Amino acid sequence: MIHTKILGTGSYVPNNIVTNQDLEKLVDTNDEWIQSRTGIVNRRVTQGENTSDLAYKAAVKALEDARITAQDIDLIVVATVTGDFPFPAVAQLLQGRLGCNIITAFDVNAACTGFIYALNVADKMIQSGAYHKALVVGAETLTKYTDFEDRNTCVLFADAAGAMVLGTSDEPHIEKILTYAKGDLEGLLSMEGYPLKVDFKTPDQKRPFIKMQGTEVFKFATTVLPEVVETLLKETNHSVDELSLIVAHQANRRIIDKSARVLKIPIEKMFMNIDQYGNTSAASVPLAIDEAIRTKRLKRGDLFITAAFGGGLTWGGAMIRY
Ligand SMILES: CC(C)(COP(=O)(O)OP(=O)(O)OC[C@H]1O[C@@H](n2cnc3c(N)ncnc32)[C@H](O)[C@@H]1OP(=O)(O)O)[C@@H](O)C(=O)NCCC(=O)NCCS
Repeated sequence: MIHTKILGTGSYVPNNIVTNQDLEKLVDTNDEWIQSRTGIVNRRVTQGENTSDLAYKAAVKALEDARITAQDIDLIVVATVTGDFPFPAVAQLLQGRLGCNIITAFDVNAACTGFIYALNVADKMIQSGAYHKALVVGAETLTKYTDFEDRNTCVLFADAAGAMVLGTSDEPHIEKILTYAKGDLEGLLSMEGYPLKVDFKTPDQKRPFIKMQGTEVFKFATTVLPEVVETLLKETNHSVDELSLIVAHQANRRIIDKSARVLKIPIEKMFMNIDQYGNTSAASVPLAIDEAIRTKRLKRGDLFITAAFGGGLTWGGAMIRY
């Protein structure tokens, strides 16, 4: 049987740092509220770089880390809800810019769970034997869809990209991936597209922004995050003690704290970088995994769970031996 393995990772964040104090000047908020309710101190906001630019810079680092060239890749899957254009997809822009061969390249949309979905798709395509080396990216410029007059959302969202190169292995490294959707809850977290025109003369609409029912999303997240971790442990016959780390989607420090309490997992095992980057949607998980590897919180051979939740509503997770 063909198994999938992480060959390398990389990430990129824009240089521009936006502090809580910067946001105090835009909306009725304050550093104390943001830190205590979310754990966020800073976030990165792109200036002039679009999603494919962030994705490209993360991908180059992941290829370097994997010690392979762009021509070795035969599959690109990008998770994003903030592509440069409705089409072409970010994956196709990336394929062209990296100078890859003529290969399969497409985007997936599962909001903040997007990277787990992309990983699932790439993992299964490699396991099928049809593909051998995949570039899987989570990249977002959420701030272009954030209403910086809405204090409920503008303190949370930010821009980043993370990338992972997958290859084949005789041993099971990606042991299990679970992905779920519950579309009847779509109204809790969404971004409207442009509405259909009544006729061709209908004037252009106001640009759409992210909308969220924060408290309901909080309840959803603190239910599904512990659930997916427990299911992964059960279905792979591992115990919490065997895990080196849990790398959860960085949406809110309190969601991670509460999940750790429910799971009775020491908080030290929950990776966190939300303080510096905020919620970067599909980029959050690969950015966090890359940072965990760079800071030696994850080493070769370590077992870890990554899990996410988000718009859709969607959620999912993976049990991985790095
Ligand atoms: C958004 C979130 C931080 C709000 O925290 P909360 O403790 O639920 O706060 P509430 O929404 O109950 O709001 C409490 C008060 O703070 C206010 N408030 C909201 N945003 C604020 C801000 N940035 N600064 C100051 N006050 C704010 C609210 O207006 C409300 O005031 P009111 O009581 O006068 O109406 C929290 O619900 C959350 O993180 N939810 C999950 C969101 C998420 O992760 N989304 C992405 C998933 S991928």
